[in-house]
Amino acid sequence: MTKIIDGKKLSAAVVESLAEETRDFAAEFDLVPGLAVVLVGEDPASQVYVRNKVRQATAAGMRSIEHRLPADAAQEQLNSLIETLNQDPEIHGILVQLPLPAHLSEPEIIQLIAAEKDVDGFHPLNVGALASGTGELIPCTPLGCMLMLQQVHGDLSGLHAVVIGRSNIVGKPMAQLLLQANCTITVVHSRTRDIEAVCREADIVIAAVGRPEMVKSSWIKPGATVIDVGINAVEREGKRKLVGDVDFQSVSSVAGSISPVPGGVGPMTIACLLKNTLKAARLQQPH
Ligand code: GUN
Repeated sequence: MTKIIDGKKLSAAVVESLAEETRDFAAEFDLVPGLAVVLVGEDPASQVYVRNKVRQATAAGMRSIEHRLPADAAQEQLNSLIETLNQDPEIHGILVQLPLPAHLSEPEIIQLIAAEKDVDGFHPLNVGALASGTGELIPCTPLGCMLMLQQVHGDLSGLHAVVIGRSNIVGKPMAQLLLQANCTITVVHSRTRDIEAVCREADIVIAAVGRPEMVKSSWIKPGATVIDVGINAVEREGKRKLVGDVDFQSVSSVAGSISPVPGGVGPMTIACLLKNTLKAARLQQPH
């Protein structure tokens, strides 16, 4: 029987235990962890993500503030907001929702966020720390995937994991985390020859490419674990629908365990953002 990895249920358990840790932290330091979420423009998917992030942070007992800038905001305007948030002692975590409108520089913004408030783990200092095994603030989506994999497998030592996609947000940090968990890793991408054959060797497949239902059942070794990071809006029979990068219907008849979309990785990403916010608040206290 294929196991469906329930990200909603697992994330609810993570958020519940975080709410308790947040209460203890607030009592110890007389301080509520604060998260600032910055959204530039009106992208509907980003608006939904940001709303969910703010709502969940509040549910976990944190203070959460949303900052919105218009789609035509100048780089200086965004930079100046980040500098203000960097200085604000009540803000412990800063997240700028990506992608930014094309005229704004993502690398410039990512480097401007104070590394100790970078709850996305995208700042070069945090990227380097992750690569060298000393990472504290780790990108939320890969971290959420690791919690799901640990729930299925416990110890991941020696398993062959194939990561489809090489983005800075998911593919690259995912490979680092799997390596630290003693997996053998292969990262495949648009230039890889015969992706299907490489994936068929895998005990674990992580799909993070942003192509609706690209991964088919013929790509999957029977019994393998499949984690679907994609969230793609498609039209099916005249209706708008969210699907992952994995063809859930066919793959779920071959995989041993599979995460659904929606209700899989999405809620885990948010739970890990809150984990990072509490961690950032803790790291910023004198000790
Ligand atoms: N856009 C898609 N995923 C993410 C994420 O994890 N963090 C940010 N900041 N933007 C995103």
